[in-house]
Formats: sequence, structure tokens, C-alpha cells
Amino acid sequence: MEFKLNGNTIPYEGDPEMSLMTYLRDEEGIISPKDGCAPEGVCGCCTVLMDGNPLKACIAPMRRIEGKGWTAVRILYSRNHHENLAPVQSAIFDRKGS
Ligand code: FES
Repeated sequence: MEFKLNGNTIPYEGDPEMSLMTYLRDEEGIISPKDGCAPEGVCGCCTVLMDGNPLKACIAPMRRIEGKGWTAVRILYSRNHHENLAPVQSAIFDRKGS
């Protein structure tokens, strides 16, 4: 299967039952979705945007995102690409946020 992550097409052949939050944090190194209550799905700390709509990543299995496009803040990944950050990302980065 494949999906779009922050505008890039990503092939995925892993566990279809893995949560999107686990994938983001463990496979992509995107730690902005936080684990506040997983797998309860009540606090919203893990929220990402899927096709423009909020989605709690801790309760979304990878099979659910096939063919979808989603967005996650990618502060740590962007540290290697600081010149490409949006103004709000630069402000967070400059204050040591992640
Ligand atoms: S970690 Fe609380 S809703 Fe996902």
C-alpha cells in the first residue's frame, strides 16, 4: 500500500494493524504526535491531519490510511532541513521545541 505523508508518496509493506502513531514515532522519527493515553483515543495528543481532517493516530491502524494523505508536524526531521521550515516551525525550533 502507499499513502502521502506531508506531500510525499510513501510505500508501506509493514504490519497493517500497527497504529499510525507507532509508525510515525518509530519508523519516521516524527515525535510530535504524543502518547497521552494510547490506545484509549481520548486525549488528542496524537492528532494528525488526514486529508485535512483531524485523526487520532493512536487508534488508527495503518490499513486505514491506505491511499490517504496526511500531515504531521515534522520538527525533528526538519532540523536537518532548517531552511525549509515554515515560520511557525522555525519559531518552535528556535525555542528548542519538538
Ligand atoms: S494518545 Fe490520547 S488520543 Fe491518542
